[in-house]
Amino acid sequence: MIKILICGIGGKMGANLREAVADDGQAEVVCGVDINAVQCGVPVYNSFENVCQKVDACIDFSSPAALHGELEWAKTQHVPVVLGATGYSAEDLEYIKQCSEQIPVFKTANFSLGVNLLIKLVKEAAETLGENFDVEIIEKHHRLKADAPSGTALMLAESVNSAFGGKKELLYGREGATGVRGGEIGVHAVRGGTIVGEHEVLFAGADEIVSISHSARSKKVFAVGAVKAAKWICGKPAGLYSMADMLE
Ligand SMILES: NC(=O)c1ccc[n+]([C@@H]2O[C@H](COP(=O)([O-])OP(=O)(O)OC[C@H]3O[C@@H](n4cnc5c(N)ncnc54)[C@H](O)[C@@H]3O)[C@@H](O)[C@H]2O)c1
Repeated sequence: MIKILICGIGGKMGANLREAVADDGQAEVVCGVDINAVQCGVPVYNSFENVCQKVDACIDFSSPAALHGELEWAKTQHVPVVLGATGYSAEDLEYIKQCSEQIPVFKTANFSLGVNLLIKLVKEAAETLGENFDVEIIEKHHRLKADAPSGTALMLAESVNSAFGGKKELLYGREGATGVRGGEIGVHAVRGGTIVGEHEVLFAGADEIVSISHSARSKKVFAVGAVKAAKWICGKPAGLYSMADMLE
């Protein structure tokens, strides 16, 4: 049995993770960390400093604010970490990279198999369609999402951009007298209601449009992927891992 700590255990993903771990049968949640008090049948601490359980893997679906305390704790305890939260800054990403020299860290902004296929497909589409097709990425999420654009939209933009040698600028939304379109990749965030997560990559050419999209119908798909990643990362050497590594 793999002993799991969930950071953000009181949140929507925390609840889905507890269910996914229970369904898995090869893992168990031994404790959680959350800034809010949570009653969920396992000890929940408001800081990593107070954790006293033996933990085999930590799964984080909280917020970038938890990152520092979490990774410092993980380094001293030699615990692999699966990072599912989004909205990390450039400094956070550099810090994650540094920490991954000492412990295994798995990071992805999207644990669904479908989205990871989408990431491959949009690169292929960009390579085939070329510079004459304008690329626009539209993502839609629920009204409570704290960051925009979504981490998944950024991964899609990076994948499209890799087909153009990384030279394209990202343009976040348009307003006012924008003038004619340039060669940028447009990225647009829509927020409302309880939308779980929708991503569409639009390749708009002369007289034809190619649209590739993914729609998540529940958060369960992300939780199941994160539990799989936690089991996969246990016993791996220090390093920074992604979905592509696990799917290989
Ligand atoms: N990678 C993916 O596939 C994927 C999928 C869905 C959501 N997410 C991301 O996961 C995160 C959580 O999403 P959610 O819908 O569960 O949000 P949520 O607001 O329902 O839950 C977040 C939980 O984290 C706790 N928290 C916040 N800051 C904390 C801190 N500093 N230390 C400890 N706990 C803290 C909150 O109290 C809350 O219980 C978001 O960043 C979201 O974008 C990623």
